[in-house]
Amino acid sequence: MSESIRVGLLGCGTVGTGVIRILEENREDIVARLGAPIEVVKILVRDPERPRDPIVPRELLTSDPAEVLDADVHVVIEVLGGYEPARGLILDALARGHHVVTANKALLARHGGEIFKAADAAHRDVIFEASVGGGIPIIRTLREGLASDRIHALYGIINGTSNFVLTAMAQQGRPYPEVVAEAQQKGYAEADPTMDVGGIDAAQKLQILVSISFGIAIPFESILTEGIDRVTAADIQFARQFGYTIKPLGIAKAHDDGSIEARVHPTLIPQSAMLASVNGVFNAVMVNSHALGPVLFYGQGAGMMPTAASVVSDIIELGRNIQRGTSGRLPHLAFHPQHTSGRVHRDADRTRCPFYLRFNVKDQTGVLSRISGILGDHSISIRQMVQDTSLPGEPVHVVLLTHTATEGDVMAALKTIETLDFVVEPACYLRVEDLQ
Ligand code: NAP
Ligand code: HSE
Repeated sequence: MSESIRVGLLGCGTVGTGVIRILEENREDIVARLGAPIEVVKILVRDPERPRDPIVPRELLTSDPAEVLDADVHVVIEVLGGYEPARGLILDALARGHHVVTANKALLARHGGEIFKAADAAHRDVIFEASVGGGIPIIRTLREGLASDRIHALYGIINGTSNFVLTAMAQQGRPYPEVVAEAQQKGYAEADPTMDVGGIDAAQKLQILVSISFGIAIPFESILTEGIDRVTAADIQFARQFGYTIKPLGIAKAHDDGSIEARVHPTLIPQSAMLASVNGVFNAVMVNSHALGPVLFYGQGAGMMPTAASVVSDIIELGRNIQRGTSGRLPHLAFHPQHTSGRVHRDADRTRCPFYLRFNVKDQTGVLSRISGILGDHSISIRQMVQDTSLPGEPVHVVLLTHTATEGDVMAALKTIETLDFVVEPACYLRVEDLQ
């Protein structure tokens, strides 16, 4: 048997504990595949005295990062979360000659450029399968499996917490705060769950997917991002009446003019679409590419064991490289920096799709004609409409599905409609994708 692959863990919460559990439970299979055992040498946590899963060896815990970084390890695994100290510790690990595995999409989205540059300079690898899609091997697939093809578009349910919450609201009618609390308790949510329900976590993941699919760096802050926190039980019901379900999607498309569209928002998709049956904490990414056509990757997108499975597969990949004395086999973001695509980020105002619009208005004559007139003035045509019943004198919901319209036109029309005296509250708008 070859020499063991020695790893240091930075963090031992949901994901770190799962890593230890998989290394223990799958030990024989891992040795059979890698030809060597993987040995955890030291583990950084904030509080070594905190009660933990008994699978975590108490004697390996430390609150001193130097005890991990200075240990005789091949690989450092960062599963702390957040920007600091994660960023500084990864840079220190690379400077000491360690390879790095991270699950931290927030860190990669903000500091990936700096980290990958440091890794290249140190001739070390930083790999990050668990950063997108939890247990789904989507990063490895896009970097390697689809390296031969030109990607046209991808549509992903890439935040498990958001999908878990919307599914429970739609299927069980459960209230939003209660389901968010359950996602936290199950270890799906980020330390700050507003990152999940506000769409930021998905935007950070979409940034990574866009980089490795299209060879373009888009700051996640510039991605059109809206969270599921704007979806109400009423919207779920109205969408159903139109034959749609609401899913938290990250969408990226390559346009013929060389621009890349990227957006994250709750989206109405047909109930018959494959992504419509992706429920609970499951994630799925549908990729459309030139030669392959559509392909769908599906699996658990968060949680201890699925996420740790991705982390451990990264350790095995690095272990194999270490055994062969190689590194840098793949560009970190799939494209060689000297061959960047020259593509540009498409302005969000140019996005074109059908829209779902819900207006809360006073029940009086002329409302529909005023709304449809303003939409028409902005080249937006109506495809379907429903209105709920109201008690005399009570406001009423008027809900429309439009034909394909331009984002900028819809926003301008809504701004005008909101000034009308019969409008009770700002309109709710959601985007529609007529996926198969
Ligand atoms: P978590 O449960 O909050 O665990 C964080 C761990 O890091 C804990 O062990 C904590 O120590 C330790 N830690 C945090 N700050 C520290 C500091 N300043 N110094 C020393 N130790 C520190 O987080 P998680 O859910 O495992 O997530 C870890 C990373 O994986 C995040 O980047 C997350 O986005 C990513 N991720 C998570 C999932 C998931 O389903 N949970 C899925 C994919 C990716 P204590 O134990 O002493 O508190
Ligand atoms: N909080 C994230 C989610 C964890 O819910 O998808 C997996 O990245």
